[in-house]
Parts: sequence; structure tokens; C-alpha cells
Amino acid sequence: MNLKYTYQLREPVQALLQEASRINSYKPQKYWYPLSMATYDIEEILAAVDSLCSFRTTMWEKTDEFERQFGAFAGSPEAIMVNSGSSADLLIAFALINPQTKFLNQGDEILVPSVTWPTQLWSPMMAGLKVRFVDTDPNTLNMDLDDLEAKIGPKTRAVSLVHLMGNPCDMDRVINICQKHNLILIEDCCEALGAKFKGKAVGTFGLTGSFSFFFSHHITTMEGGMIICQDQPLSDLFRLLRAHGWARNAKYAKPESVEGLDPRYMFLNWGFNVRPTELQAGFGLEQLRRLPAFNAQRLQNAVYFQKYLNRYSNIMRLMEVLPDAECSWFALPIMLSPECPFKKEDFLAYLEEQGVETRPIVAGNLARQPVCRLYPELQEGDLPGADAIHERGFYLGLHPFEAKKNLDRLAEVFEKFIGKTL
Ligand SMILES: Cc1ncc(COP(=O)(O)O)c(C=O)c1O
Repeated sequence: MNLKYTYQLREPVQALLQEASRINSYKPQKYWYPLSMATYDIEEILAAVDSLCSFRTTMWEKTDEFERQFGAFAGSPEAIMVNSGSSADLLIAFALINPQTKFLNQGDEILVPSVTWPTQLWSPMMAGLKVRFVDTDPNTLNMDLDDLEAKIGPKTRAVSLVHLMGNPCDMDRVINICQKHNLILIEDCCEALGAKFKGKAVGTFGLTGSFSFFFSHHITTMEGGMIICQDQPLSDLFRLLRAHGWARNAKYAKPESVEGLDPRYMFLNWGFNVRPTELQAGFGLEQLRRLPAFNAQRLQNAVYFQKYLNRYSNIMRLMEVLPDAECSWFALPIMLSPECPFKKEDFLAYLEEQGVETRPIVAGNLARQPVCRLYPELQEGDLPGADAIHERGFYLGLHPFEAKKNLDRLAEVFEKFIGKTL
């Protein structure tokens, strides 16, 4: 049996994989340079097994502890774990229009990025807000802040920002714009765990921050996500929205007793059920310990590959990071220049054939997705920056393991193609 891992998993995990492959006839991976690699080891597996063996699988102490430690890492007093980054975005949107907060009314306009993961848009739409696309800067891959200012109209009440690919936005300017126009700011940090602007963690500039722990992200809990906020009553609203609106989930609110009502089944608000399991939280606790080393290694690998790409800066380059920003590199996003002598499609087909997995930069220009035909508010006019990313951008994986050998091999693969076309 042939397991192809560049990162050497520890022996107990190897043994488990061997056993699993015996049962499941494990197939070796198609790519030697995949989009993402397993970042968990025996400790995460044991943490999950511990929850199973103690029959405490639903949200419990490990979730509390993971939330506490995550909040400390992310610079936030309140952290609420959910079952995905999309669920974090969903609860944030529903908190904005909740009668308890009245931050926004249904029908209010919220400005959203044109290049991001689409659930960042679906969430406010599902909550009855009107989204409007803002163009994207093809250099930083973040919101074009000139276009953001230009799009602010009489109905605009909020901005939903994303720090794409771990690259922090210019938060001085964003805050300035939001203050000037009295706009609520929410930050999607699902690709940016550990990123900072002028030393301040992303997700702590706005009212809320959302994070994702999907398999390929900075840390994984298999599936999972987190909301951070500064405010106790708001954090309690998230706890209610996370689990049925159920009073027992509030941490700070002490509901008055209601005559004739059993307090064990008391509901203070409406809500979903997007709770995480203890298995996910146990994973998260172990992953959080590894995170500083992971992020340092990702940065080192990105810088290493950047040095190689610099020699071709007239035809392709990585995204631009602002001088005040500490990027928490999520992947290797590459933009071909308009002068590039070859077609993106040809290059990607070649990379795939060579065993290098590729993807578009998130979903490209979202306004070009078929879903937009269903919703008139998603039919936006010109988005030239997002179009440039759609047409000339793609990304490769970036792994949190020592990878010089792999990056040299990747450079050789690039070299072969580029050498032929120049
Ligand atoms: C920017 C952004 N927002 C939201 C999400 C949704 O997170 P999840 O996949 O955990 O639902 C992702 C996922 O990749 C993302 O990249």
C-alpha cells in the first residue's frame, strides 16, 4: 500500500491510516502538491476519542475551553463556537436584524465584497438585508476602498468586509469610512486567523469577526467556526441564535421566571441549531497549540516562493501586502499580468497534469455566478477589479510544514512551462 504524504505523520497515525486503508481501500492522492494536507495528528484523534469514550459528545466543557483559549488568541473577550464559518456569518447577519439589537432593519443595504466565499453574501440576504457588490482590488484581493466610498448611498447602513487569503485590509481607511458614514462594520476572517493590522488582530475592528476551521484553513476542527465580539449581551444573543433561542444557553442573561413555565424549557429568542460537537472542540484545542508554528511556517514558505516568483514579476506575482499589515498566509494566490504571453487555462491545465492542484481565486467575480440570475440585487454593473481576478487569478495550496524541497520542485515545474513560452 502506497501512502503519499510529504509531511511525516507520526507513527500511531500512520498505523491508523494503514488500518483504515485496509478497510476502505484507501486511494493514493492524485496530486504531489495538493491544495491542502492533513494538519492533525494523534493528539487531535485522541481528544475526539476521549469525548466518545466519556459519552460527552454534544457541546460541553471542551467547547467552553476552546472558546476561552480562542478568544485569548484572537484578542476578544467573547468567542462563540459554531459548526462552520458559514454558520458564523449566518448568526452575525441574523443578530444584526434581531429585535433585541435593532442594529439594522430588513431592507437596509449592506455593502459586500465581489470576490469572497459566497456564504458571506447569502447570510445577509437570508436575513432580509439588501446586499450590494463592491469592486475588488486585483493587487491586494481585498475590497477596492474607492469603490466602497462611491457605493455608499442613502440606504447603506453596514459593510461586510473580508480579509481574503489572510491579507488584512487597510483598516485605518475602512474605519475612517465607516465612522464618517455611520456604518456598522462586520469582518469575515474565515481565511485570516492570526492576521493583524498595525498589531491589532483582524476581527476586533468591527462589531464582530467570523472564522472558519474547515479542513484546509489555518486550523481545522474537521468542520467548525467561531464568532468573536466585544460585548456581553451581543455574545449572549449569539448563544441563543446558535441553539434554538434556548434560555439555558445564555451565559450572562439571567431570565426572570415566568409563572407556569418550566425554566428548563424557556426560549428567549428564535434560533437555529448550529452547535459544534465536543469532538470538534477537542480538535480545536490541540490545533490551537500548533497554530503559531503553523502560521510561522506558512509565512516562511510564502516568502520563499515569492522570492522565486520575483524574477517573473512582469508576468505573474503574489498578492500585495500593505506595509502595516501582518498577513496570515492562507494559500499562494497568483495573478497573471495583462502582458503575460500565455493563457491562464493552458498554464492551469499544465499544472494539473503535473500533479499540482489549482483553484480559481475563491469564486472569481461573484456577479458572474449563475445564482445572480435569481436575485436582481446581485446584478451589479462594472466590477473591473473582480473581473481581472476572475480572468487572470488562481491559487495553489500553502502548507504549514517545512516545504523547501516541494517549493523548489514547484518552481521547476513553473520554470519548464515559462521557459518554453518566453
Ligand atoms: C471568506 C470565507 N467566508 C466564509 C467561509 C465559510 O466557511 P465554512 O467553509 O467553514 O462554512 C469561507 C470558507 O472557506 C471563506 O473562505
